[in-house]
Amino acid sequence: MSNRLANKVAFITGGNSGIGLATAKAFAAEGANVVILARTQAKVDQAVAQIGKNAMGVVGDVADLPSLRKAFEQVKNVYGRLDIVFANAGVAPATPLIETGAEQLDRVFDVNFKGAFFTVQYALPLLAPEASVVLVGSCISEMGTAGYSAYAASKAAVRSLARTLTPDLYEIGARINVLSPGPIDTPALSNGGLTDEQVQATNEAFGNMLPAGRVGQPEEMAAVAVFLASSESSFMRGADVQADGGMNQIRLPRAS
Ligand SMILES: NC(=O)c1ccc[n+]([C@@H]2O[C@H](COP(=O)([O-])OP(=O)(O)OC[C@H]3O[C@@H](n4cnc5c(N)ncnc54)[C@H](OP(=O)(O)O)[C@@H]3O)[C@@H](O)[C@H]2O)c1
Repeated sequence: MSNRLANKVAFITGGNSGIGLATAKAFAAEGANVVILARTQAKVDQAVAQIGKNAMGVVGDVADLPSLRKAFEQVKNVYGRLDIVFANAGVAPATPLIETGAEQLDRVFDVNFKGAFFTVQYALPLLAPEASVVLVGSCISEMGTAGYSAYAASKAAVRSLARTLTPDLYEIGARINVLSPGPIDTPALSNGGLTDEQVQATNEAFGNMLPAGRVGQPEEMAAVAVFLASSESSFMRGADVQADGGMNQIRLPRAS
């Protein structure tokens, strides 16, 4: 820890689990005041206890705009400003072409794309000069992955947002970038209904594909998030940092 985020105020959606929780802990360890938002009170309370001092929890749903707006009102009342926004809440259900209806597509876009869009819109009046906004994308936005059309398209839209919203943030001296993780070992797979054995098999299969030789850990994404949130990345605008174990960059030669 080197106090890279001393006295900053950070807002993290989906901050009670996986990449969001690891990032909340890392931001707090770097000296930030951290506000996390997620839907489940009990899980928010547990996460706040783990993050420690200077952590605050709010219950809200990024796809339910009145509750999202209310969360920003709570931040305004307590801190009056935001230096860092980490728009991380996301869902990744399979949406096979033949079986998927409009409601399922809407849900993925409501959370992943509209959730990120309105998180930035509602944060805007609170953003301090030189604030850093980080959107969580996915390496899947640049790949074709069978059965995940809605997730991949929603994350491609998130990646695009960092470019198209850069001029909006320019006015106040703030900036916006994307962090695109590769396969990371978080509760997402088990929350999606996979058994422990299936999670292990999935992680092993990804590990064998990846130049890194393994899936990533949430703390490795948090380290990139700290970089993007801090002044160390002060010259970056509209960029996509692919922290993907090499998934989108390199094809390993096939084993014979
Ligand atoms: N893990 C990976 O391999 C991977 C790879 C690429 C990108 N990502 C992206 O990384 C982000 C975090 O994923 P993760 O793997 O850390 O997942 P996770 O452990 O399942 O965490 C997801 C978080 O989002 C919250 N959330 C979900 N829907 C929400 C909503 N409508 N409103 C507010 N909060 C909501 C969840 O809390 P509640 O359920 O309590 O609301 C939870 O805190 C996602 O955007 C995901 O697409 C993950």
